[in-house]
Amino acid sequence: MRVGFVQFDPKFGEIDLNIRKAMALAESGEADLMVLPEFFNTGYLLASKEEAFDLSEEIPRGKTTIALCDLAARKKMHIVAGLIERAGDLLFNAAVLVGPNGYIATYRKMHLFNEEKFWFSSGDLGFDVHDIGDCRVGIMICFDWFFPESMRILALKGAEVICHSANLVLPYCQDAMKVRCLENRVYAVTANRTGEERRDGKCFRYTGKSQITGPNADILYRASDVVDEVGSVEIEPRQARSKKINVNNDLFADRRIEYYGELLK
Ligand code: ACM
Repeated sequence: MRVGFVQFDPKFGEIDLNIRKAMALAESGEADLMVLPEFFNTGYLLASKEEAFDLSEEIPRGKTTIALCDLAARKKMHIVAGLIERAGDLLFNAAVLVGPNGYIATYRKMHLFNEEKFWFSSGDLGFDVHDIGDCRVGIMICFDWFFPESMRILALKGAEVICHSANLVLPYCQDAMKVRCLENRVYAVTANRTGEERRDGKCFRYTGKSQITGPNADILYRASDVVDEVGSVEIEPRQARSKKINVNNDLFADRRIEYYGELLK
């Protein structure tokens, strides 16, 4: 199967423009599974909870999820994309999974980064794995990568491809993903944005370099740090099914969970 990402520079608050741009880029690529950045439709650098509320949408009724479903049906592909979810009075940093037959699932970011803690509720849906036919996918959003538990639990639940929507501002993730993929023997598609956003004396520079990483710590594709780009590669999800690294070692079976209790405190 072919997995890919859309990397671009969303304009803050311009939802229609951002949807159009991301759709055109996604349409120009070839992938069975395409990952778009965190908050691809709104931009990231929020100033208040009211602003987050104004830019939020219900899932799956909002126009962003509807546009993603249309594209997925037209291109017969699956898409994971990040947006601000409104659920009653609560806001979540969310990502949707949609496919040719419509909306499939929502992931709500578990580990909120910095001021996100002021605007959003922490994810409350756990880490689910979804069988999309070609492979089983797990979803995480940006800063979740910093917590090895995110990818570990997804891999333990059977995910072969981790869809990672991101707005990365720290320089570590792309290299760290090699280890995350190696230690779990999974693929990951990190869809990052480019550009910068300024507000109230703050400046966020997004690092681009969207990346598709393989289970042997191999960088299968790394985008540039500044330009719009759609990247995709062919992968073999069955490579991620075995956790064996030699005849005597299996990365999951060899865990000594009876000695790992502290991890849950
Ligand atoms: C991030 O989690 N958006 C850095």
